[in-house]
Amino acid sequence: MAEQDYDLIVIGAGPGGYVAAIRAAQLGLKTACVESRETLGGTCLNVGCIPSKAMLHASELYHEAQSGALAKFGIDFKGVGLNLDQMQAEKTKAVGELTGGIEFLFKKNKVDWLKGHAAFTSPNSIDVAGKSYTAAKIMIATGSSVTPLPGVTIDQKVIVDSTGALALPKVPKHLVVIGGGVIGLELGSVWLRLGAQVTVVEYLDQILPGMDGEVRKEAAKIFKKQGFNIRTGTKVTGATVKGGTATLTVEPAAGGAAESIEADCVLVAIGRKPNTEGLALDKAGLTVNGRGQIEIGHDFQTSVPGIYAIGDVVPGPMLAHKAEDEGIAAAEFVAGLTGIVNHDVIPGVVYTYPEIASVGLTEEEAKAQGEVKVGKFPMMANSRAKTNRDTDGFVKVIADAKTDRVLGVHIIASIAGSMIAEAALSMEFGATSEDIAYTCHAHPTHAEALKEAAMAVTGKPIHM
Ligand code: FAD
Ligand code: NAI
Repeated sequence: MAEQDYDLIVIGAGPGGYVAAIRAAQLGLKTACVESRETLGGTCLNVGCIPSKAMLHASELYHEAQSGALAKFGIDFKGVGLNLDQMQAEKTKAVGELTGGIEFLFKKNKVDWLKGHAAFTSPNSIDVAGKSYTAAKIMIATGSSVTPLPGVTIDQKVIVDSTGALALPKVPKHLVVIGGGVIGLELGSVWLRLGAQVTVVEYLDQILPGMDGEVRKEAAKIFKKQGFNIRTGTKVTGATVKGGTATLTVEPAAGGAAESIEADCVLVAIGRKPNTEGLALDKAGLTVNGRGQIEIGHDFQTSVPGIYAIGDVVPGPMLAHKAEDEGIAAAEFVAGLTGIVNHDVIPGVVYTYPEIASVGLTEEEAKAQGEVKVGKFPMMANSRAKTNRDTDGFVKVIADAKTDRVLGVHIIASIAGSMIAEAALSMEFGATSEDIAYTCHAHPTHAEALKEAAMAVTGKPIHM
């Protein structure tokens, strides 16, 4: 066989693809990465994780200053103003620094960036911007994009997806979010804090599907207290836009009388779908499953030997860190090593206030598998949370009743996203609740609430 242009070509430079390309290059493979966007970093860096966290952070600072929430600490602000253009500019700056950082890492690691859209021409060749490239192995890391809602056409002005909602030029008066999932609650929080009235329309009878039942209930209570108008068990059946106002037709999910809701902005956030269109998968001999995903084996190889797939385009949670870890493991397989991702221990975080974080099985899932013991500790009884006045939430540890091995941890707390790392590490090491309970935790920290919840699994916490 004639020599190939590359040992590995990765299609897509999101957190899955760019990480895979860098790891492959580190392992000595001649590597290229195709990306059709103007900048590297994929959904996550350009229009996902990073800009959303920038807006969440900035809007939280504004809300704290503007709402008078800091007055109890003796901090008085007068005439707090919102400069949305500046807030957006700072977000754009952070995104630019991070995407530019990936370009630097590509150069440093000698990864070639092939600019343009890739389409297969055979199992080991692709076409990019009219040029053909061959590779011994090809990895698909094309990510995902927003799932459209029939009858509600996204125009990125009045009816927007997450990308539009991250770049609104002014604070809407009334934002309706369709979908009470992660995007809806995070971006809903941003605009609520900046002064919008926010209504969340969720099809199911509770928000945050897939999360622990108790967490979902508590989260809904907290969000309602913050001012979210949450309408569960409700579906949107259509939308019309006239003169900058959208009129949505909604009705009970179970059927019933329709009504209309008016809004000057509508965010469609009902999930995301894998990106496979335009890849000419048929030329490579590949197909997708019923959910549009590319199926893979334990080594991230698809049904066609030599073609790998990772990240949002394959089954599993659509999360950046899952994509990154798969990128590293898959690159290691491509290089002839054995890569490992423990799909049972992938943390998930919703970056609202408070944050909501989980790892492992929910209580419902764990109980369906066998007998469990559950330990809970409220943030209200944690000294640091009490001192900081951020006492909303709890920590819940679920352990196997016989072996005491930790099966899942669920946290609602101001810094739950940071706290969950310890739970993930414990589970990765096969910890029991006793192991966590007998680990010395620094005082005063929010992390002590995890220790006390672990103590509550088999005995009693001290501070409750
Ligand atoms: P992507 O990041 O989607 O990257 C795929 C890349 O491939 C894209 O840049 C695309 O342009 C390119 N591409 C596609 N097809 C082709 C082609 N044929 N040729 C060339 N290039 C192509 N996850 C978290 O873990 N934490 C968060 O806080 C978080 N926040 C989010 C907030 C929002 C608003 C959104 C939308 C998502 C968020 N996510 C978050 C999810 C996260 O962004 C994704 O899980 C992650 O980006 C998936 O990585 P990936 O590499 O699989 O794909
Ligand atoms: P999601 O799956 O989290 O939530 C979608 C919600 O929309 C669900 O509650 C669903 O029941 C509801 N829904 C579906 N159809 C509906 C309809 N017709 N009417 C009303 N409600 C409807 O999806 P979302 O929020 O779009 O996010 C997509 C993915 O992006 C997430 O699943 C997550 O993997 C990723 N993400 C991760 C973040 C994080 O890790 N912090 C932040 C943002 C996104």
